[in-house]
Formats: sequence, C-alpha cells, structure tokens
Amino acid sequence: MNQAATFSTIRTEIAGVSVLDLASTFETPTYVYDGSKILERIDELRQFDVIRYAQKACSNLAILDLVRRHGVVVDAVSNGEIYRAQAAGFAANGTPPPVVFCADLFDRKALEQVIALDIHVNVGSADMIEQLGKSGGPRNISLRINPGFGHGHSQKTNTGGEQSKHGIWHEELESCLALAQQHGLTVTGLHMHIGSGSDFEHLAQVCGAMERSARIVGSSLTSISAGGGLPIPYRVGEASLDIGRYFEVWNATRNRLVESFGHPVSLEIEPGRYLSAEAGYLITEIRAIKKMGANTFYLVDAGFNDLARPIMYGAYHPISLTPRDGNLTRPSQPVVVGGPLCESGDIFTQEEGGFVCTRELPVANVGDFLVIECAGAYGFVMASNYNSRPLAAEVLLQDQRARQVRNRQSEADLISHERIPAD
Ligand code: LLP
Repeated sequence: MNQAATFSTIRTEIAGVSVLDLASTFETPTYVYDGSKILERIDELRQFDVIRYAQKACSNLAILDLVRRHGVVVDAVSNGEIYRAQAAGFAANGTPPPVVFCADLFDRKALEQVIALDIHVNVGSADMIEQLGKSGGPRNISLRINPGFGHGHSQKTNTGGEQSKHGIWHEELESCLALAQQHGLTVTGLHMHIGSGSDFEHLAQVCGAMERSARIVGSSLTSISAGGGLPIPYRVGEASLDIGRYFEVWNATRNRLVESFGHPVSLEIEPGRYLSAEAGYLITEIRAIKKMGANTFYLVDAGFNDLARPIMYGAYHPISLTPRDGNLTRPSQPVVVGGPLCESGDIFTQEEGGFVCTRELPVANVGDFLVIECAGAYGFVMASNYNSRPLAAEVLLQDQRARQVRNRQSEADLISHERIPAD
C-alpha cells in the first residue's frame, strides 16, 4: 500500500529554494515547477515501454525539453501542441512516434500539419479515418476506442461512455477497421483513455476492454496504450496509485496479446497529471484580509484566470502560508481564499457547484504569501486573460537554481493583437 500524502500549511521553501526569494525575484503570481519531482514520476513509470506525456497538462517548452531529455515522448491535441513539441526538439516521426496527434476531429490546419510532417495519428472518429485516408498522409494509424464506460475526478473529466464525445464507440470498431482498410490505412495501435483523475479499479477495468478490441483488430497491432488518467493525492491522507500493480495488470494483458499475435506489442502509458501536478506551485501574495460576517477572507493576487480548477471542478488544492516575517508558529483559523477577479466565483476554496468552504490556515498578514500546491497540471495551461489580467510567469527549479521559463505578460501584450478600425 502506498503511503498517505501529508501537506503542511506552512512552507518556507520549494525544492530548497526560499519562497520569499522566489516571490521577490519573480513577483507574484508565479508558477514554480520542481524539475526533480517530474523526473521522479517519470522514473516510477519506466516499466512501461513508452511514456507519452500528455502535454496539455503543462506544456511550457522547458518542461517538454526536460521530459524529452529523459526519454519521454509526447501526445499533441492541436496544431499548437505539435508546434510546441517541435520547438522543444521532438522529431516529427520515428519509432515509437515522438509525437502522436490525438483528437476526435481534424481542424483543417491540423490535417494539413499531420500530412506535411508525417505525424502519427490516434484517430477518434470515422470521419478522421476518411479524411486522413483520402489525404495521402501517413498510412499507419492508431484508434482511440471508447470502451462504453469511463471515470474521472469530475463528470467533466470522464471521457468514456455514451455521454462522452471521445473516441470510436467500441461497437463501431469493425466498421472503422473496414473503412481504414478501404483507404489503405493500417491500424497499428489501439488506445483507451477513460478519464482524468480516475482510480485503480476503473483504470484496471480498461484492460479487459482493450484485450477484446485488440483481438478484433488482430496482428497488425504493434502497440497498445493505457491512456492517462492516473490520479495523484491532492488531500492529506490520500494514497498515490500503486504503479507496480497497475503495470502488472497491463503487462499481463499485453503478454496475452503477444502470445496470440506472435510478435512484440509495445505498452504505452500517456499521463499528464501524474508527471507534472505535484511539481507545480502557484505563489501568490495576500493583498487584503477581510471579514464577511462569520467568514474571514484571504484575498490574493492570483485568481481563476491563473488557476481555473477550483471554479471548474470544485477541485481541491493544498494551500500553505509563507510568512513574510519568518515567524512560523502561528495559530490556525478557518478562512476562505479568494482572488482579485470581479466575479464571486473567484474562490480557491470551493466545492463542485460553487459552494464556498473554509480551510484551516495559519493566521496571516497582508504581504504574506500563499502557495497553492499540486498546481503543475492543468494550472498555467488553463489560464486566461479574463479581467484583462496578464498571464503569470513560470519558473523551473533544478539543482536549487531558479530559472524563469516564461516571462510575465505585460499590459501591452494584452492588447497587442487588437486593432481599432481606422474608419
Ligand atoms: N490522454 C488523453 C487522450 C487525454 O484526453 C488526457 C486528458 C490525458 C491523456 C491525460 O490525462 P491525465 O493523465 O492528465 O489525467 N482539466 C482537467 C483534466 C482534463 C484532462 C483532459 N484529457 C483537470 O484539471 O483535472
């Protein structure tokens, strides 16, 4: 059994670098990533033949470069992600494909791009098979199958079952194989991703569905992908996934397929959150403290424009305080943590449905810092310019060195693509 997670509500450093120094050097709000945590997570997954990072979780070029240098390949879900992968040094093709384009549709530019660069595609609809087939683009494809069930940490991150738009419905596999054949495409890969932030039981259920589908495809298959979805502990007491056990169930599935096909079948995993979530911290400064009846609010300079997970999913993130005066012995009190946006939902301590809740945090002063933790996945990448707030800076920590890997946006950046018509 894996150890239960612990989080402290006081924090002075991140990966050996002082939070006060980080805040004064890079200002706030700033995302900080601990590179060593990402590498630890990669090492935990080494039993899988291919670790394919779902870059949508955190796609800063420095993070992509880091994972690439440690043997990880990537998934891309848009033209922009293909472009990023290339800018971070991934080749367009090879074995295993360094970049796989995974989607349920091709927008016109993406179709042009996968053809021009010969990028392997993980196809999520019959129309994609048809469009790729007619294009004269790459001839080997993977099929993403919706096995008819799914599970995520929220209904919004469940990607299986009839309510999901993702993947090829499992009962349509045969007709899609026929369509692929008609267009001269060979199905070399099968992929299932049932949701994000799932649990062992649901994830393991996919093996059976994969095996059934793989037997329908037959021996053209050279690779199967377990998708991503691996959960991480966000709350005190939650245990992390038993990766060894997870690998075992998948490996057994793969081995049965190897035996029937008589050739090797590569086993891929496609995590986003698992690699980057725990490495990321959002440092923000408390700029106001006020009472509303019984509630005490800590108001910070980061909002849901910086971290959208609480307002979108009622997601829970550990929060810790970094006192400016270094006094670490403070009593705690229940507080609500909110941001600067002109919208009442701009609360970091909320449950799904928008219900505001309190969190026990140390007594604080204006000017102290809050660190919102486990924010490295679906944090910066889901940020927006709502309320015309510039995007935060990003900093990568490695070997106690802090290097800025994205400049904070300026107000001028905010309007740089806009025009007032001249007439
Ligand atoms: N593969 C595919 C095809 C996916 O759609 C996703 C996530 C992943 C892999 C990576 O899933 P992960 O290992 O990170 O769970 N914004 C949400 C999560 C959305 C996930 C979308 N697809 C959140 O903040 O929780």
